[in-house]
Amino acid sequence: MNLLLLQTLHVAGVIALFSSLGAILLGNSNHKGASMLHGISLIFILLIGFAMLKKPPMGQYWWMAKIGLWLFIGVAPVFAKRKLLPAPVVLVLCIAAATFSAWLGITKPF
Ligand code: HEM
Repeated sequence: MNLLLLQTLHVAGVIALFSSLGAILLGNSNHKGASMLHGISLIFILLIGFAMLKKPPMGQYWWMAKIGLWLFIGVAPVFAKRKLLPAPVVLVLCIAAATFSAWLGITKPF
C-alpha cells in the first residue's frame, strides 16, 4: 500500500485513540464503547505501523521506543481506574507519550 495512505491511516488511528481516551478519562458514564474503541484503535495503529516498516529495521531503535510508548498508552486507563493517578494527569501523560511517538516516527532519530 502507498506510504502516504498508510501514514494517513496511522494518524486516523491516533485520532480514534484519543477520542476514546477523552471519553474514558474525562467522561463519567459507563464507557464500554470507549474501551472497545481504545483497544481497536491501538491494534489498528500497531498493524499500520508495521505495514509502514515492512521489515522492522533491526539496526534502528526509534520504532522499539514507539512500541514502549504504545504499551504505556494501552495500560494507562488502568492507572486512572485503580486511582493510582488522577485521570486528567493520565490523559496529559498519554498526550505527551503520543507527541513523543509522533516525533520519533517523523525524525527517526536513533
Ligand atoms: C499510540 C502510539 C503511536 C502514536 C501516537 C503514533 C503516531 C505517529 C505519528 C503522528 C506519526 C507521523 C505521521 C505518520 O507518518 O503517520 C508516526 C509515524 C510512524 N509510526 Fe507511529 N505512532 C504510534 C505507534 C506506532 C507503532 C506501535 C509503530 C510500529 C512499530 C509505529 C510506526 C510508525 C512508523 C514506521 C512511522 C513513520 C512512517 C514514515 O516512514 O513516514 N507507530 N507515528
